Amino acid sequence: MRALLLRLSESKRLAPLIMRNPVSRRMARRFVAGETLDDAVEAARAVNRAGQSASLDLLGENVSDEAGAGRAAQRYLEMFDRIAREKIDANVSLKLTQLGLDLDQALCQELIEQIVAHASALGNFVRIDMEGSAHTQRTIDIAKRVRAKYTSVGTVMQAYLYRAEQDIQDLLAAGCRLRLCKGAYKEPPELAFPKKEDVDANFVKLMKLLLPSGIYHGIATHDPAMIRATKEFAREKNIARDQFEFQMLYGIRTDLQQQLVREGYRLRVYIPFGTDWFPYFMRRLAERPANLVFFLRNLLPKSSTR
Ligand code: FDA
Repeated sequence: MRALLLRLSESKRLAPLIMRNPVSRRMARRFVAGETLDDAVEAARAVNRAGQSASLDLLGENVSDEAGAGRAAQRYLEMFDRIAREKIDANVSLKLTQLGLDLDQALCQELIEQIVAHASALGNFVRIDMEGSAHTQRTIDIAKRVRAKYTSVGTVMQAYLYRAEQDIQDLLAAGCRLRLCKGAYKEPPELAFPKKEDVDANFVKLMKLLLPSGIYHGIATHDPAMIRATKEFAREKNIARDQFEFQMLYGIRTDLQQQLVREGYRLRVYIPFGTDWFPYFMRRLAERPANLVFFLRNLLPKSSTR
């Protein structure tokens, strides 16, 4: 089912049907802060009031032309201005395919550099999200090139990929801040651990490489076992609670988010917004069968459930 949903998340035919449907629109609002930057700012303010930081993400991936990539870059520049003007505790997460990675790598490199330069001038930070494995090496190459010029950029490592450990060594040597997550795309067994227990074991192994590195990293998970392992390791190695942060997605396990803050840990909430929410929504459905069951149950007309 996970594989099917992840395949459907790339369907250009299904996207408009799901995005027009009122049930899916309502359900997407659980995971997406709204359609506008105002919505995202409001969500970030609420998150800040709860003692948490935010990372704003303008939804959109795989732009189809260079003008679209330029428009996305412009919106990120404006986002940093707004964050600075309103003194919100937030950085920004973005995807390189939204900046034209698949159209023109040189253009993508130029746009991400402009964004990071702007963030850097404002004392802020850009996180380059990690997409499917077809983009891994190019994302790392670009992140390293930009990191050689600015400290205010980092990227993401996915524990389901066999290559992640080697990539982490490579990126730590470049001084890169990393977010560790399990990985949300459909990957073949030649590239990624197919079994959850192996992904989890690798996540813990990689977390243990990151935390003592002396660089500020993000441990992004809602999994209590991963969180427990991280806390235990940090305690064992005397790594202070302000030397790393936990990260979670908007609308998921808010109880756990609040608990971590109460315990004195740093927590950043990833806040997606925008009109292009279909692939993000489908990946969230794929992560948890209960989400899909709830969605399908609500899609069925009431009469058919009698
Ligand atoms: P796991 O999937 O094992 O879930 C553990 C528990 O968390 C579940 O039992 C459930 O309680 C809860 N949960 C998880 N997902 C849920 C959902 N959708 N709805 C409701 N409950 C849910 N991936 C990627 O490939 N590239 C990236 O750049 C990022 N970026 C990113 C940023 C941040 C801040 C987070 C938290 C995650 C990502 N991810 C990502 C997604 C990540 O790879 C992964 O798919 C999800 O975080 C789910 O994995 P968990 O670690 O939560 O564990």
